[in-house]
Amino acid sequence: MAVLDDRLGLLSHELFSQVDLHRLYGGVVPELASRDHVQRLLPLVRQALARAGTTLAELDGVAYTAGPGLVGALLTGAALGRSMAFALGVPAVPVHHLEGHLLAPLLEDRVPPFPHLALLVSGGHTMLIEVRGLGDYHLMGETRDDAAGEAFDKSAKLLGLPYPGGPELARLAEQGRPGIFEFPRPMLDRPGYEFSFSGLKTAVMLAVREGEAAGLGADGQRRTDIARGVQQAIVESLVGKTARALDDTGLSHLVVAGGVSANRALRDALHSAATARGVAIYFPRFEFCTDNAAMIAVAGLARLKAGGQAQHLAIEARAQWPLMSLRAPGT
Ligand code: KG4
Ligand code: ZN
Repeated sequence: MAVLDDRLGLLSHELFSQVDLHRLYGGVVPELASRDHVQRLLPLVRQALARAGTTLAELDGVAYTAGPGLVGALLTGAALGRSMAFALGVPAVPVHHLEGHLLAPLLEDRVPPFPHLALLVSGGHTMLIEVRGLGDYHLMGETRDDAAGEAFDKSAKLLGLPYPGGPELARLAEQGRPGIFEFPRPMLDRPGYEFSFSGLKTAVMLAVREGEAAGLGADGQRRTDIARGVQQAIVESLVGKTARALDDTGLSHLVVAGGVSANRALRDALHSAATARGVAIYFPRFEFCTDNAAMIAVAGLARLKAGGQAQHLAIEARAQWPLMSLRAPGT
């Protein structure tokens, strides 16, 4: 839950992380996630309003995540968001989760202009998008199989790291030596802007097993070297294709968003690639890389300001919702 003011910016943002709950089961159990949402939402709304020093009556609109995702969890937030808007007599704005990620840099002082290239890297998506305007997205390439975040998480699991593995693996990789493990970067030498990460987990599994067979424990230098190799393979694949897309399009602004954009090695490598090309690069601050309410508020506000939204009373919650099906407001 976040409170955003058009003039003053972000007034408050509250997050109740379900990570502890998910960790118990090594991943998300949908029914538990939605039940937990029911319990957490109202206290979170009160807390965010109090921290912002505002009241419900002052709100001019309510944005909520309408998809894509687990429909039970979505429905909980959507029902609350739509009902609040109805009760307050203000518009409700159903927001696409990935549009939230794409627009998260709008929360910062330095705002990327249109058009720009966006690398969207999360637990479920890996996409290169030419962003021509709000709701005007042209997909240049995406992953053929696993998402970058998924590759981080699955490799982390193979290394015995707790859920969610991405940040844990990144931490381990810092102590690893570069170049000891060379994992595949399957699409890098092929034309186009597509990614593939599913081969990585097989290669990591083999490396882990090889170590075990040789009597090397699961801990120690070998494990950190594998983590370093995994991170390197993912980062190089992402940076290689992003650099190609920048060169081919001539776009001079690059946005990097989604959970994996919190990865330090990725940020550094993209920063170098962009700087070498005279391209300006924009990241959300760390806390707004991974899922958060502030990005949904900023996307909702952008759509609300642009107008052209039909107001109806439906509670929108879509498990499937292709980003490319979005349109610019009023079109
Ligand atoms: O955007 P997000 O919070 O949720 C989805 O929409 O999927 O992204 C979560 C993903 C997870 O796979 C998580 O492991 C990954 O982002 N992630 C990271 C880091 N922080 C989050 N991966 C690598 N390094 C990080 N520092
Ligand atoms: Zn996300």
